[in-house]
Amino acid sequence: MSLREKLDVSRLPRHIAIIMDGNGRWAQEKGEDRLFGHYHGVESVRNIVEGCAELGIEYLTLYAFSTENWDRPEYEVTGLMELLVETIHQEVPTLNKNNIRLHVIGDMDMLPQYARPELQEALELTKSNTGLNLIMALSYSSRWELVNAVKHIAEDVKAGKLDPGQINQDNFRQYLCTGNFPDPELMIRTSGEHRISNFLLYQLAYAELYFTTTRWPDFRKEHLYEAILDYQQRERRFGKTSDQIQRETATDAH
Ligand code: IPE
Ligand code: IPE
Ligand code: MG
Repeated sequence: MSLREKLDVSRLPRHIAIIMDGNGRWAQEKGEDRLFGHYHGVESVRNIVEGCAELGIEYLTLYAFSTENWDRPEYEVTGLMELLVETIHQEVPTLNKNNIRLHVIGDMDMLPQYARPELQEALELTKSNTGLNLIMALSYSSRWELVNAVKHIAEDVKAGKLDPGQINQDNFRQYLCTGNFPDPELMIRTSGEHRISNFLLYQLAYAELYFTTTRWPDFRKEHLYEAILDYQQRERRFGKTSDQIQRETATDAH
């Protein structure tokens, strides 16, 4: 039985988030320039997007560039940014063919001038697609997102549009970049690091975390299936007891 056949299709995560890490080390281990790793990372993105679309996953968030990544050497930043923007632009026909809608989250003000219209166009051209939602985290960091949310809430309170007493988890969520997207149930990080690196800190509150030593440029559908299988073997308790969860599952089954 293949790994894909082992998946319980009735219990797939709706939203998978991935920290695509390890491009630089992958390249350096081959005696190549770090950018070589980023180029190969694009192949993994294509493969995983396709894999998620085939499975019927509703949301896939890919951490492609953090606000902290702006502090890397200029050569890498420029090369990586050009690669990302150009790839997104070039992939639009494939996204449309596969009914994939593109979203971008992050601090767009930090992007170079040429990037914004290109991204805007890609968003516009895919906005009617109803299959997989592909969310690219570009110049994103969670602390930036949370501070930004607080600023907007303060502005709305000042303008009389929001009563502080009425702030709750539902309307707070609307101020995040992820707005109406459900929280990821599964977060994957490649390349052996066991940290979150400023990614979706609020949204990952109850996500199942999966870490693999596979470097991102080597990551393929089979690795994704392994991660989902691992996820499907876990008991998600949300603070309750195991007994409660088992009783709920038994009741749901009837
Ligand atoms: C992930 O690979 C891509 C980005 C962070 C932009 P890295 O470039 O972080 O690769 P390593 O972790 O240095 O190997
Ligand atoms: C996280 O990877 C950001 C992305 C994958 C885009 P980093 O390589 O930047 O994270 P750290 O520095 O190892 O925490
Ligand atoms: Mg890294």
